[in-house]
Amino acid sequence: VKTKTEPVNVARFREILTRRLGLHLDDGRLEVLGELLQRLLRSADVTPNELFRRLDAPGASAELRAIASQVTVPETYFFRDAAQFRALRQVVLPDRLRARANARELRVLSAGCASGEEPYSLAMMIREALIDPYWTVSIHAFDVNPVALEKAVRGRYSAWSLRETPLEVRERWFRAEGADHMLDAGIRDAVRFEEHSLAGPSAWVGAGYDVVFWRNVMMYLTPDAQRAALDRIERAIAPGGYLFLGHAETLRGLSHDFDLCHSHEAFYYRRRGAEAVVSPTSARHTEASSVSWIAAIDGAARRVQALSDEPVRDAVPEVADSPSEIVDASLARAFELLQRERFAEALAVVEALSAVSSRNPSMAILRAALFIHGGRLERAALACREILALDEHDAGAHYLLALCREGAGDQHGAFEHDQLAIQADPIFAMPRLHLGLLARRANDRESARRDLSRALVLLEQEDPTRILLFGGGFGRDALLALCRGELAACGGAA
Ligand SMILES: C[S@@+](CC[C@H](N)C(=O)[O-])C[C@H]1O[C@@H](n2cnc3c(N)ncnc32)[C@H](O)[C@@H]1O
Repeated sequence: VKTKTEPVNVARFREILTRRLGLHLDDGRLEVLGELLQRLLRSADVTPNELFRRLDAPGASAELRAIASQVTVPETYFFRDAAQFRALRQVVLPDRLRARANARELRVLSAGCASGEEPYSLAMMIREALIDPYWTVSIHAFDVNPVALEKAVRGRYSAWSLRETPLEVRERWFRAEGADHMLDAGIRDAVRFEEHSLAGPSAWVGAGYDVVFWRNVMMYLTPDAQRAALDRIERAIAPGGYLFLGHAETLRGLSHDFDLCHSHEAFYYRRRGAEAVVSPTSARHTEASSVSWIAAIDGAARRVQALSDEPVRDAVPEVADSPSEIVDASLARAFELLQRERFAEALAVVEALSAVSSRNPSMAILRAALFIHGGRLERAALACREILALDEHDAGAHYLLALCREGAGDQHGAFEHDQLAIQADPIFAMPRLHLGLLARRANDRESARRDLSRALVLLEQEDPTRILLFGGGFGRDALLALCRGELAACGGAA
């Protein structure tokens, strides 16, 4: 028996599991693997070489499945990481419902769903958020562990799995069965479970998901398997769709195709490249009649500057050690400072990383916005042009350039860049509001009414991070009030 669990055999066993299942089994797991190997050899009564040959053969899936369920011990529970579910409900779902308004179809994936708590939480939340019965919602979930999947399909859970589930949700969607809780049949039916490995054939790639939860799975994968899995996940998400990772996980060093989003104290990612929809308008702008929007932003920034007298500090966050960690940590810190209206400090954080801040899309746009807050319009324009040199359809850069053009007295240029911003992102509220204000100043009441009415609708739904970044220091309520006031002033219904 001793020879059967020699380190060389355990290493070979680990290599096969890694290759066939994409599982990362670090040295700390070698003892467990040795014991498992010993059990397998004993029950099959074969030599290690025979077992390895079998596991490596194309038809070995049943045996591999059984092994997978013993080496992946899933820890999960309903509504894990409540902040992410809040961001999903308030930012991500409204955005994707708008994006899919024509097709009325929403697609969601839970990759590495374990015993089903995660996809079922998604199903409950979507059921509560989406009242229109004409939508088709498909929630797809997969895992490599068949035992966990069987439990998922049963839909029966202990109180421990519901430890983070709000009482009203528990009462609405579960009924007691002995000491356990049985999930509502409608929610169970809403999720389609499948047994897949992220490392195996990937029929789910190309599905165009609106939302993918891929949380707390990376740690099971080798670095190569992580990259390969992310590549598939990336291709499975629709442009403009969202990716949620576990709260200790990041895409740094793995992908540049996502923008980092931050709201409701949660971080998540949005895949870049949402399709542009051309939205022509025909406003003509000739003369100025009221205070410009860029002047209002400048005024707000000066007010805040006067209120804040603390010195700049923590230009580079201390926690980070690798370059990508520094970027992520700086970005989070700069957003936090922006939120607190400490624009100069936020800019100092971003500028401390000037070498990367022009290449990292989130950092670059934040830098440009902060130049605007500081009244440095020429620097802002330069920063926007650098962004547009890399991506000519960057809606945020076009909008900020529109502000710069307005500041330079070039109404026509401002109008053009707002138009380009809207073409690149038709649901972006700020360029629409800006167009409305420009039209007001040009006494073009009809265009002003149309753009301000549209801005009013878009502002209600706008992503809080975008309001923070582009709202010129004004919150959603202030922007809505401004929009309503301007609309009423040009004879529109607010
Ligand atoms: C810790 S659980 C996470 C469950 C859930 N996503 C959450 O965050 O609560 C990790 C799951 O990833 C699954 N997993 C690990 N490697 C996988 C692979 N290569 N393909 C599919 N699932 C995998 C495990 O079986 C396990 O169920």
